[in-house]
Amino acid sequence: MGVTALGYYGFEVTDLAAWRRYATEFLGLMEVAGPAGEHRYRYDERAWRIAISEGPADDLAYAGFEVADSAGLAALLARLEAIGVSAERDAALAKTRGVTELAVCKDPTGLQIELYYGAREATEHPLVSPAGVSGFVTGEQGAGHIVLYAGDIGAARRFYMEGLGFRLSDYIDMSLGPDFTLELNFLHCNPRHHTLALAPVPAPKHLNHFMIEVARMDDVGRAYDRAPRMGISIANTLGFHPNDRMFSFYAYTPSGFEVEYGWGARTIGDDWKVVRHSVTSTWGHHRQPNSA
Ligand SMILES: [Fe+2]
Repeated sequence: MGVTALGYYGFEVTDLAAWRRYATEFLGLMEVAGPAGEHRYRYDERAWRIAISEGPADDLAYAGFEVADSAGLAALLARLEAIGVSAERDAALAKTRGVTELAVCKDPTGLQIELYYGAREATEHPLVSPAGVSGFVTGEQGAGHIVLYAGDIGAARRFYMEGLGFRLSDYIDMSLGPDFTLELNFLHCNPRHHTLALAPVPAPKHLNHFMIEVARMDDVGRAYDRAPRMGISIANTLGFHPNDRMFSFYAYTPSGFEVEYGWGARTIGDDWKVVRHSVTSTWGHHRQPNSA
């Protein structure tokens, strides 16, 4: 048994103030209290989902993947051990993250991966989106998805599939020229079509984009309208993905990487069969420059 969901993520950013405005007024996330020097945001019953701290990376600093319970964590650590990865239990970090038990390791690209169970929920405080977003799609599908650069795709697949238990959803053969095609790997660990995608490209950063799914098509449209009003650059116009069938747009964050803001993706089950696609978008998602 592998991980069951992406639980939380942490970004290290150069401009905390720009991110606060971006996270609350644009993405519609609710700011909550966090440890000193860290801004935290929630978008469901969980006490927090996104943590942002100040630093030079402008990148994903860590990702938290969850398991059901103590036995699930022990089983996961044994899986990792079997492929030569030792994850260290860290009680102090568990306390900081507000989870019951946690172990930490690095993926083959050096990204910090945190494995845990027993996250805190905050149902006593109703979720109020400062941008009026009607709701966010999480639950058993977890926080959303992340797309990571993985120069050594074999090592990354081994870590995430054999180690963390992700299963292949599909490939997109992304044509970047007459003689150059990138094979994007989409992986799932729950009914969300992909919680993780791997781009086989060496890059100085870990993160290409992260995705937040909202409850209604109008929530996507309203955010699309907010972007130019707030001076935020759209990276990909509205469009539709052939594999997860998500209606979405992409915007540049203050850190340069992108957020996909989407609605209406399908979910998948145990009867899923791997397929291949030749395009990343059925229509739309036209590329725009970052003018911010
Ligand atoms: Fe995406």
